[in-house]
Amino acid sequence: MPASYDVAVIGAGPGGYVAAIRCAQLGLKTVCIDAWTNSAGKPALGGTCLNIGCIPSKALLESSEQYAHLQHGLGEHGIAVKDASLDVSRMLARKDKIVDKSTAGVAFLFRKNKVDSKPGFGRFVRAGENCVLEVVNGKEREEITARFVIIATGSIPASLPLFPVDGERVVDNAGALSFQTPPKRLGIIGAGVIGLELGSVWRRLGSEVTLFDSRENFLAMADTQVAAEAWKLFTKEQGLTIKLGAKPTSVQVGKSGVSIDYEDTQGAQHFECDKLLVAAGRVANTAGINAEIVGLKRDAHGFIEVDDHCRTVLPNVYAIGDCVRGPMLAHKASEEGLAVAERIAGQQPEVNYATIPSVIYTAPEIAWVGETEQALKTAGTAFRKGVFWFKANARAQALGESHGFVKVLADDQTDRILGVHMIGPRVSELLGEAVVAMEFAAAAEDLARICHAHPTLSEALHEAALAALGRPLHQ
Ligand code: FAD
Ligand code: NAI
Repeated sequence: MPASYDVAVIGAGPGGYVAAIRCAQLGLKTVCIDAWTNSAGKPALGGTCLNIGCIPSKALLESSEQYAHLQHGLGEHGIAVKDASLDVSRMLARKDKIVDKSTAGVAFLFRKNKVDSKPGFGRFVRAGENCVLEVVNGKEREEITARFVIIATGSIPASLPLFPVDGERVVDNAGALSFQTPPKRLGIIGAGVIGLELGSVWRRLGSEVTLFDSRENFLAMADTQVAAEAWKLFTKEQGLTIKLGAKPTSVQVGKSGVSIDYEDTQGAQHFECDKLLVAAGRVANTAGINAEIVGLKRDAHGFIEVDDHCRTVLPNVYAIGDCVRGPMLAHKASEEGLAVAERIAGQQPEVNYATIPSVIYTAPEIAWVGETEQALKTAGTAFRKGVFWFKANARAQALGESHGFVKVLADDQTDRILGVHMIGPRVSELLGEAVVAMEFAAAAEDLARICHAHPTLSEALHEAALAALGRPLHQ
């Protein structure tokens, strides 16, 4: 007899593992099937996020920022450091240790919550009142049944036919998290989130970094004022070269490097580098699960079609995270996982897609929630804005990190906060207050009337709210 479960989750990324834990907490007999294996060939839970995404990239961003700070940020404090040196293999080992600890942490949580963990590739055999799934692990095959299935198979890098990834000269995010030495010249296709974060890492460690993006506008998804400030800081202060409107036409990968022909507004151009990172977006990872065979629908990009509650066309099959519509973010995947688990248990949860925060972990960081100024203008919404620059914030000055600003956008009639946009020190942490405010449908005046500790970076948000009311105090 196949093992039978209330819920089978396919994929143990931040969508799937959170869903599985919550299902188990709600008393549902739960199994989580995951195919990921680490470089030692061992199962490793946590998906893209823990293994080759959020966690290792933030570990290297932190290490490289410390190194850059040691080199360029201490002089003004009157501190001179001689003979600072870089041990990349130790830096990578630290990153790997953090990843191992995080993935082991998920295994611990599965044991603690009594989630059955099955390593292997999961796919549908049959749908119905009881779905039948097959778990393939090497030569072993096992069938299981489940009353509900949650598909959380995540995403993989979009492949560009012109730039096949060979893991050596041409790499994806996994490869760029493991360069053994900083490449002398690093080219990056895609000046999006991965390109900027990993480009920043290797730039700080000494690489010459050039990013190419086919779009004409930089960071199109961000507020244009934030994007303009980021452009200035990244290109003028940090030495990233970013070529917009650049369309590669041919590429040659040789033993000594990669050479690329591309066209931009100036005409035909040529570029050579030692390593090339392809970071041109990600696509849903839904191949091989027999989706169509059991009647599930996928769109042209491979995303499983779901409604606002992550319900597929099959009544007992849900899909969450990167393999469905919406932003490809770990916390969005987890929120959907929680909501689906609770829905299966008979509750009526909602995911508020309007308040999902976005962060880019460059230095300074970029963070936002809600509508951008340009989106409000396009929609014809009357709004007020308040901008407060970190150079007028005492804590930012003390930190020696006073680039950037906080911007609050509020409805002109009701004063309700419609969007908050930040570029500056530690704004990934500051953003939480803005998300809470928006979740509680706060007005700019609400933020303005809240007492903020002094001296803190959070005073910049307070002041931006005051500015939206036309009465900033410190600028
Ligand atoms: P995934 O994390 O992709 O997990 C899916 C899991 O399912 C994987 O383990 C996969 O092996 C498994 N799987 C797939 N098919 C099957 C199958 N048929 N059977 C069994 N198992 C299967 N997001 C943030 O919010 N913050 C960040 O800082 C951030 N940084 C990132 C940095 C990088 C370099 C990258 C690449 C991404 C980053 N992201 C970040 C995005 C984030 O990683 C994803 O949004 C998140 O991992 C999606 O979670 P998920 O559970 O949907 O899928
Ligand atoms: P992205 O969508 O952020 O950026 C991809 C860029 O590549 C775009 O600017 C696009 O114009 C460009 N591009 C596409 N095709 C191209 C081509 N042929 N030639 C030149 N440029 C091309 O995608 P990215 O950086 O790959 O990241 C994937 C996802 O991972 C993001 O959507 C993001 O949600 C998630 N992520 C989140 C992070 C965070 O939350 N801090 C960090 C890293 C990734």
